[in-house]
Amino acid sequence: MANYEGRWSTVKVEVEDGIAWVTLNRPEKRNAMSPTLNREMIEVLEAVELDDDAQVLVLTGAGESWSAGMDLKEYFRETDGKPEIFQERMRRDASQWQWKLLRMYTKATIAMVNGWCFGGAFSPLVACDLAIAADDAVFGLSEINWGIPPGNLVSKAVADTMGHRAALYYVMTGDTWTGKEAAEMGLVNKSVPRDQLKEETRKLAEKLLEKNPVVLRFAKQGFKRCRELSWEQAEDYLYAKVDQSNGRDPERGREEGLKQFLDEKSIKPGLQTYKRKK
Ligand code: COA
Repeated sequence: MANYEGRWSTVKVEVEDGIAWVTLNRPEKRNAMSPTLNREMIEVLEAVELDDDAQVLVLTGAGESWSAGMDLKEYFRETDGKPEIFQERMRRDASQWQWKLLRMYTKATIAMVNGWCFGGAFSPLVACDLAIAADDAVFGLSEINWGIPPGNLVSKAVADTMGHRAALYYVMTGDTWTGKEAAEMGLVNKSVPRDQLKEETRKLAEKLLEKNPVVLRFAKQGFKRCRELSWEQAEDYLYAKVDQSNGRDPERGREEGLKQFLDEKSIKPGLQTYKRKK
């Protein structure tokens, strides 16, 4: 079992029963994403990816905040006037974990939104496969309030998950909304009272842990990619994913699932997952 204790200064990682609880850990700065945190999150995602003890990753925040977005001091003001190449690298680090690694992550991911979620935080929020929020979490596209249009992939992320009118309303007004409203608009899968947030997230993670991890990966990656393909391309691509999944899957899930349903009659796939051999 890997020991992550004290390995990073801005992120905490705990692995328990197959779940990696990854906590953005700058509560005194409402978990704003600084250049250090961005670099460390690349390392965290790469480490957890290779950790067999962690099959589902939950991204959350320490204290009362999920993340207050990009760090206005360390990411913006303190880098103003630095060489252009420095800015380029800093943006690349942010993108690298906030959506490139996270969006197509090899393991299932859940955003557990425990509090404030602003601006730049929408990139990792939407990059996670699933999301559960506390009813009273507060969301906002606050960029307009401090003088920039949303950057990175924030606008694309909200265009993909919120309705057109709602997204533009919040982009243009900077008004906030709650976890409950986020669930109604489909930005998160559901919202629950704050004292049930961890338990509900654990239950969802446990459901995902029952699935074949290779099939789960190709299913989610196929879904995300095919949204940007034509129908013809999507059909080819998704069949290729099925073939890739069949070829790569070490536990031969397809055969096992068919056997349990057709021969043993021990499961009904419409109602439950085939039983994996441990
Ligand atoms: N960047 C840098 N520092 C931030 C930050 C951010 N995005 N969000 C909060 N902080 C810092 C504050 O400057 C303050 O630091 P200090 O103690 O050194 O003064 C500390 O975190 C606590 O913040 P505070 O505003 O006092 O907390 P709060 O609980 O009253 O309010 C927020 C929380 C999230 C509503 C408020 O901090 C806020 O509006 N943050 C900015 C959100 C934003 O616009 N994000 C978009 C960035 S793209």
